[in-house]
Amino acid sequence: MTTPPTTKLNLDNIQGDILSGIPKKTELYYFFQILDTKKFRVQLGKLAPIIKTAAQVLHDRKCIEDHKKRGGHGLIQIVGVNVSFSHLGFQKLGINDSTLFGGNTNDPFSVGQLNDAVRNLGDPTKETPNGVVPDWEKEFLQPIHGLILIAGESHATTDKKLKEVEAIFGVGSKTPSVKKVKLIRGDVRPGKEHAHEHFGFLDGVSNPSVIGFDPILPGPAQVRPGILLTGQDGDPIQNREPWAVDGSFQVFRYLFQEVPEFHKYLRDNPLKFEDLTPEEGSELLGARMVGRWRSGAPIDVTPFKDDPKLAKDPQRNNDFKFKDQLNSQQRCPFAAHVRKTMPRDDLESLGISVESRRIARRGIQFGPEVTPSEKQEDKTQKERGLLFVCYQSSISNGFQFMQQSWANNANFPFGEQQPEVPGLDPLIGRGTPRKMSGLDPNDATRELTFPDFIIPRGGEYFFTPSIKALKETL
Ligand code: HEM
Repeated sequence: MTTPPTTKLNLDNIQGDILSGIPKKTELYYFFQILDTKKFRVQLGKLAPIIKTAAQVLHDRKCIEDHKKRGGHGLIQIVGVNVSFSHLGFQKLGINDSTLFGGNTNDPFSVGQLNDAVRNLGDPTKETPNGVVPDWEKEFLQPIHGLILIAGESHATTDKKLKEVEAIFGVGSKTPSVKKVKLIRGDVRPGKEHAHEHFGFLDGVSNPSVIGFDPILPGPAQVRPGILLTGQDGDPIQNREPWAVDGSFQVFRYLFQEVPEFHKYLRDNPLKFEDLTPEEGSELLGARMVGRWRSGAPIDVTPFKDDPKLAKDPQRNNDFKFKDQLNSQQRCPFAAHVRKTMPRDDLESLGISVESRRIARRGIQFGPEVTPSEKQEDKTQKERGLLFVCYQSSISNGFQFMQQSWANNANFPFGEQQPEVPGLDPLIGRGTPRKMSGLDPNDATRELTFPDFIIPRGGEYFFTPSIKALKETL
């Protein structure tokens, strides 16, 4: 691992979840409305000092490493708070936030996710007396002004911090300045599955590494800081107002996963390849849908057999680019989740950079493990899924583009040049029919159709401002 050069970023001014993610086993998502603007702005001054910065996250991570090196068992006590605001939130605060979207009123941040979900993301919708809205939980159909994240190592620590935060805003008193719209708790999964999402695949493997901040590793090129941070080199909007610098746009998606149904689908459609058993054929199908094995090993490197050792090796687990595979789905289907969301040489070899599309994924699972009764009936009975969060300096370049123009676009990549139309991203792609080619290594033209395994039930777009902005502007 090469040591990163000394960063020029002011890590004391950047909220901690953006660059490397607040370390966590559990996380509270507190969605709120501002009731009393004047009071709220005064009280925000008391929240600012307890916000975890990027510098403090680096310190926390070092403490965790040292604790492990000393052979320490269990976790050290760590908790971190971050705060973000929606466009409606800035409006409520009386702050002109047009510097955030360059005055473009079609920008997803200014439009809000409630509208964007219907117009561009392809979320399921429903008719209401007020028109067509996404088929989301009712709380997410209300205006949401902000999101407070509280991440930590235990429920006790995060619950205590939540009380502290609520006390700052007078929640529980007769005149609170905020109203809780929704509180969701996320937890990493138990035991060996702790870093895996609910379908069972290792998550959080490939995130952009930032020039001057992260170590240089083999694989996709590093990104300029301005791909994640406003006002830095690579930010598509120039000359932002000073308060809008060192922030990041935070996308939240409340994604429910139909886990028993996903596993039944794999069991019912095992790939027949060489001498694989039906179980191995199902494993291969799952790996080809995701683009990685459950262990996290990329199928572009190890296409027909899992290699858990490779998965654990940060020098190798991102060192692939679909090179020499541009016309071929043999090693990895075009529409596999990781190829759709990060096409690497599919675009770069054509001279199209993927840098501006990169997002930093943070987020956590919610809901219990699959119960024996759910397993027996192959049917979801309890709510579970992913509290998806990602950061970027432009939602229209990052998350929105990825969802709308890649995952939901059956022709991406290579739809017109190839005999096989790639199809939709089998995890998050929305549209009808939900199908893709390239899953069967013996016959790339064979298309498999699948039901929805991931259902969006809420979300919003936020901006996570700098510490200076929290103290001086908001
Ligand atoms: C990678 C699962 C939603 C974008 C991955 C990986 C898994 C996964 C297993 C591979 C491991 C890794 O690199 O971390 C899921 C599940 C989702 C979900 C279960 C929903 C419940 C989304 C959404 C987006 C997204 C909504 C954005 C629109 C990405 C990106 C990568 C990735 C950019 C990394 C690709 C790469 O650089 O190789 N996801 N994902 N995912 N996912 Fe998702």
